[in-house]
Amino acid sequence: MGKNIRRIAVFTSGGDAPGMNAAVRAVVRTASFHDLHVYGIFEGFQGMIEGKIERLETSDVANIIHLGGTKLKTARSQDFMTEEGRQTAYENLMAHEIDAVVAIGGNGTYTGAMVFTETYDIPFIGLPGTIDNDIFGTDYTIGFDTAINTAVEAIDKVRDTAHSHNRLFFIEVMGRHVGAIALYTGIGTGAGRIFMPETETDLEDFVKHLQKASRRKKLFNVVVVAEGNQNGNAMQIAQYLEEKHSIKSKVTIIGHLQRGGSPSASDRVLASRLGYNAVNALLKGKKNVALGTINHKIVYTPFEKAISDRKLLNGDLIKMADILSQ
Ligand code: F6P
Repeated sequence: MGKNIRRIAVFTSGGDAPGMNAAVRAVVRTASFHDLHVYGIFEGFQGMIEGKIERLETSDVANIIHLGGTKLKTARSQDFMTEEGRQTAYENLMAHEIDAVVAIGGNGTYTGAMVFTETYDIPFIGLPGTIDNDIFGTDYTIGFDTAINTAVEAIDKVRDTAHSHNRLFFIEVMGRHVGAIALYTGIGTGAGRIFMPETETDLEDFVKHLQKASRRKKLFNVVVVAEGNQNGNAMQIAQYLEEKHSIKSKVTIIGHLQRGGSPSASDRVLASRLGYNAVNALLKGKKNVALGTINHKIVYTPFEKAISDRKLLNGDLIKMADILSQ
């Protein structure tokens, strides 16, 4: 058993993700079941430094499971990257007699937790909350399923007008430096091409693909572009094709729409499982690990490995997407 855990803090950090509220709810409800007190830290690590820490009762998380965004707010914190900032944060946690912390966020959140726990002996559990699905140690991150459903719905709408006008559209999706959102939404919308950081973007080959499609009277095309695509985002690709080949196109950037909305059932269940198991992990003495699910089983990954190991996209999915888009 872990040291006597009586008071747990929970916070959300980094880009918000649909399902974060469900995770917070599960932490509070599970902790309350075990007669633990829970404190919400508002605005992530910055709030920990500014002392934005308030008790959370089980009633405080009523009627939030379906809400996008995060009740605890989030923020990116430069101050936390300083020793002084982390010392202030530690003092605030001690002032509330916090014994352990659940941090819900992405790689940046795990990095902050890892650096903090190198100095201060307070157990942290990390939960993968980001739409990017770029965190090692879990098949899916909280928010990814909702984000790809949002993007698919948007791209289906664009397909209608692309088809009506025989137009070429480049649609940019989020994902920071990885192409998980692009890959899944590209497959889900039957995109003519998917340009993402993990694969070669051969625009001359794409021009040949367009010419071949035109010869078989396929005169419209919808192409999904990951914002982190190596040699060009959607706007840059469109400009290249116009300047080099006089190929006209339209660009739609879905942007922060992918971060909002009511979490999908899948994200709600994933978030609830992770929040529930975060409290149980602390009670079992686990600390400074990230929780995830792999093949539906709960797994623990030390922060250092979760941060340093790169999560690879499924190569078979990439190959399948290429074949299905011919
Ligand atoms: O990490 C989630 C994410 O939405 C990325 O996909 C995107 O690049 C980034 O956050 C945008 O950050 P911000 O909301 O701070 O502009």
